[in-house]
Order: sequence, then structure tokens, then C-alpha cells
Amino acid sequence: GRTFEYIKVSTPKPGVGFIELNRPKALNALCTPLILELNSALRTFQSDTAVGAVVLTGSERAFAAGADIKEMKDLSFAQAYGNDFIESWSDLVTFLKKPLITAVNGYALGGGCELAMMGDIMYCGPKAVFGQPEIKLGVIPGAGGSQRLTKAIGKSRAMECILTGDNITAEQAGEWGLVAKVFEGPQECVDGALATAEKIASYSQIAAKACKEVVNKSQDLGIREGIEFERRVFHGLFGSQDQKIGMGAFAAKQKPEWTNE
Ligand code: CAA
Repeated sequence: GRTFEYIKVSTPKPGVGFIELNRPKALNALCTPLILELNSALRTFQSDTAVGAVVLTGSERAFAAGADIKEMKDLSFAQAYGNDFIESWSDLVTFLKKPLITAVNGYALGGGCELAMMGDIMYCGPKAVFGQPEIKLGVIPGAGGSQRLTKAIGKSRAMECILTGDNITAEQAGEWGLVAKVFEGPQECVDGALATAEKIASYSQIAAKACKEVVNKSQDLGIREGIEFERRVFHGLFGSQDQKIGMGAFAAKQKPEWTNE
């Protein structure tokens, strides 16, 4: 595979793609080349039929301390608007159809918090720090923070965080449901994410893809349309081989051997 400057890419467990942000000198600040590398690695995992789920993490000190402030400080409106600055980031969520788990240790600030929230499942370690400090820089969150944080923890808490720039601790993140689990240590957090990814990857990729699609729809649709959408997708799965394999194996008291078809 290709070698990267700002990320490390591996497949440490069966079916699991693993990406570690690796720009330690800048606390994994998300400069454009890093985002392009991340997009490229995710694209490769998306098309790799052996990969069933992906884990994204940073280092013990920082998941990512935000967009690269030094890179963007001199941008003009015309450059930001004209080049759709930050839009390439949203690619991450729209093109990755496989489940993505983000494992957060240390700082997840600004764009780092927003990137973490693009994960389908978020885990964190005990020293994780979440925040949207953009107001301190004279701006606002620009990669989905105002929308995803509000959906995740509610309006009043999100307003407080975004308007004060104050951080959210791992404990609060756990209590408020921003993350699915708070682990005892940073290594436990990454290991936990890899174990969950391995479990997901052991199922039918067709079913996992459909699970992700229907849950994500709940973020955009009202309950009625959401349930109708879910039912159509559910019905559609009776056209898959893996539905016959999964239900057949249950009835025969056997272990299913998925075909991903
Ligand atoms: N962009 C560019 N460089 C960054 C950075 C960022 N977001 N965050 C940290 N760095 C760099 C620092 O400039 C420093 O580099 P030098 O050694 O060359 O000076 C290096 O990383 C280490 O950082 P500190 O010395 O500041 O480390 P610290 O432990 O004292 O503080 C910190 C850590 C509290 C995270 C602090 O670095 C900080 O406040 N960083 C900025 C956080 C922030 O404002 N993020 C939001 C960015 S805006 C954004 O993300 C917009 C958006 O919505 C997309």
C-alpha cells in the first residue's frame, strides 16, 4: 500500500481497518494534506471487500486539536467560500458506508471534536477532552459541530459549550451520551474500539451497511418517514443471500457463513 506522512494505516484484526492520526508535533491538527490522506485511506477501506468496519484514533495526547489554525488564518472569504473550505471533510461521512468507530484520547477540539462525531460509534478514554473553542478564535464550528453536538447532547448543553468555548470532560461525555463508552485507559479505549469493529466485521456486510443507513436516516427524517424507510430497507434484505443464510443457520442450529451477497 501507499505510505502516508500524517496517518498510519493498518489492518490489525480480521476485517478491521485501522487509521491512526500521526502529526504529533501539532497535536494532530487537521491540515489539508492530512485530510486528503485520511480521505484516501478511507476510500481504500471502502473498496476493500475484506474490511467490514473501520477504527479511527489519534494519540494518547490528542485525537486532534482542530483544523490547522496556522494554515487557515490568512484565508479570505473568497478563498474559503470559493474553494468550499472544509467541504472535503464531509466526504468522510458521506462516502464511507462501512461502520466507523472513533476512539478519542486527549484533545478533540474544534474540527477534532467534529471529526470524532463523524464516527458511527464514539468511544473515549478517561482523559479525553471535547470542545468547540472556535468562538475564542472569532469564528464558529465549521465541520458540523453545531449540528452534530446539538443532536448528541441537546440544545442547552451544546449552546453552553459552543458559546463559552469551555471543554467537555470524558465523564460528562459519557453521562450525556456523546460517547457510547468511557474506558479505563487510552489503550483500553483503542482495544475496545478494535474489538467492537471486529465483532461488526464478523456479520454480513450487507446487514451492517443497512443498519448504518437506517440509523443515520433517523437523524434527518421524522419518526413516521423514518420507520417507513426502515421497513422498505428491511423488506429489501429478503432479497439478500445473507438473510437466507442467517435465518437458515438459526433454524438449523448452525453458525452462519456470510457471503456478503
Ligand atoms: N492548529 C495548528 N497548530 C496547532 C493546533 C491547531 N488547531 N493546535 C495545536 N497546535 C500546535 C501548536 O501551535 C504547537 O505548535 P508549536 O510547537 O510549533 O508552537 C503544538 O501544536 C503544541 O501545542 P501547544 O504548545 O499549544 O500545546 P499545549 O499542551 O500547551 O496546549 C491545546 C494544547 C490546549 C490543545 C492548544 O494547543 C490549543 O488550544 N490548540 C488550539 C485548539 C483550537 O482552537 N482548536 C479549534 C481550531 S478551529 C477549527 O477547528 C475550525 C473548525 O471548526 C473546522
